[in-house]
Amino acid sequence: MTNQIKVFLSGLAVASIVGCTAKGDNPGLEYAPQMYHSVPYEPLTQIKDESAGNIISNRTDGKGEFYNSNTNNPYAQNVRKPVEGTVRRNPNDILPYRLGKDDIEAAAQIENPFPDTPEIQAEGKRLYDQFCAHCHGANGKADGKVAPVYAGVPSYTAPAQRNLSQGHVYHVITWGIRRMGAHGSQMSSDKRWKIARYVQKLQQQ
Ligand code: HEC
Repeated sequence: MTNQIKVFLSGLAVASIVGCTAKGDNPGLEYAPQMYHSVPYEPLTQIKDESAGNIISNRTDGKGEFYNSNTNNPYAQNVRKPVEGTVRRNPNDILPYRLGKDDIEAAAQIENPFPDTPEIQAEGKRLYDQFCAHCHGANGKADGKVAPVYAGVPSYTAPAQRNLSQGHVYHVITWGIRRMGAHGSQMSSDKRWKIARYVQKLQQQ
């Protein structure tokens, strides 16, 4: 055995003995540790020990490579509690919908937050074809393939449907109504409003 191999084998033996001491929070010897430790801040995990990883550290602030705590925040975390009274909005600035199934009259007063543009109509149509057309028909005339076996599908141009407001249609999509099932859990609020815009077009034809 050449000396080189001897050195290599004894190094391997030491590494495996040291590596076997892993327990609890200690992962044992880490091979290529820079691959395990995040350089940017992690939202939920922090390494508060300033000397952690100092053997391989390239940092210029004298701290160990693995130190990544945000010491300015409580618990050294990066996620922070929203300010009290904060109301969640989605990326389109739409507030959460809080009306319950029976609040349909209040719902009918709500305006559609999306304007009636060709882009919104196109997206509304795409979603309508996916979620509604099989019952209500491609043109909303109650002639979808499922309509003959699912009694009571109305045409959007029927006198009782023609003037249903955008808020009403949105509410019906969200909660369902009488024989129609709810679709609120199947698509986001934005998508439901966009479908309502397309239904409006079908009501007017
Ligand atoms: C499984 C078949 C089915 C699907 C899918 C369906 N509907 Fe309906 N829809 C019905 C039926 C049946 C009614 C009549 C409910 C009643 O009055 O009993 C109805 C009623 C309606 C009404 C009239 C509500 C009212 O106040 O009279 C609107 C508006 C409507 N649907 C829109 C939609 C939209 C938009 C979608 C797609 C997101 C959709 N529906 C998906 C079966 C369906």
